[in-house]
Amino acid sequence: MKYTWRVAQELMRIIPPVFGSFRKALKDIEYGGYDIPKGWQVYCVSHGTHMNKEIFEKPTEFDPSRFENPSKPIPPYAYIPFGGGLHTCIGNEFARVEVLTTIHNLVTMFEWSQVFPDEIITRQPMPYPSMGLPIKIRLRKL
Ligand code: HEM
Repeated sequence: MKYTWRVAQELMRIIPPVFGSFRKALKDIEYGGYDIPKGWQVYCVSHGTHMNKEIFEKPTEFDPSRFENPSKPIPPYAYIPFGGGLHTCIGNEFARVEVLTTIHNLVTMFEWSQVFPDEIITRQPMPYPSMGLPIKIRLRKL
């Protein structure tokens, strides 16, 4: 189910379920012209790299194939829906199975349409459809 996973990856690029993670500076560092003293908490926001056009061409476009044939390699720690480094999500492989199983059953068994096609996604702080995502759903004819 490689393509299905590309779809999930692209969804998590545009709408990361967790929008970032905290790290503590273990020593004084300088980053991007800013001095960060030892002991400060820094917050790494996924959107900073997920929506960076230097890393992901046309970042606002939904294009699962960008994970299939990237025009240039995605640098380490630039695609971080599951975080990175020592505290990277330990459930990421389990999440993959859950996501693939859910998408597979939804897509093969049902057809649906959104009641509000342009519904906005809000943060609560997880992504949440602003109108509760009402849909019209029916069983596919097998
Ligand atoms: C799509 C689903 C999921 C997403 C997007 C997600 C995302 C994340 C992120 C961004 C972090 C922080 C990583 C960091 O600080 O670098 C994290 C940590 C963690 N996740 Fe997940 N997660 C998901 C599913 C799961 C599942 C299913 C489990 C367990 C069954 C899980 C268990 C954990 C744990 C225990 C940590 C803390 C790891 C640590 O601090 O060492 N996650 N996750």
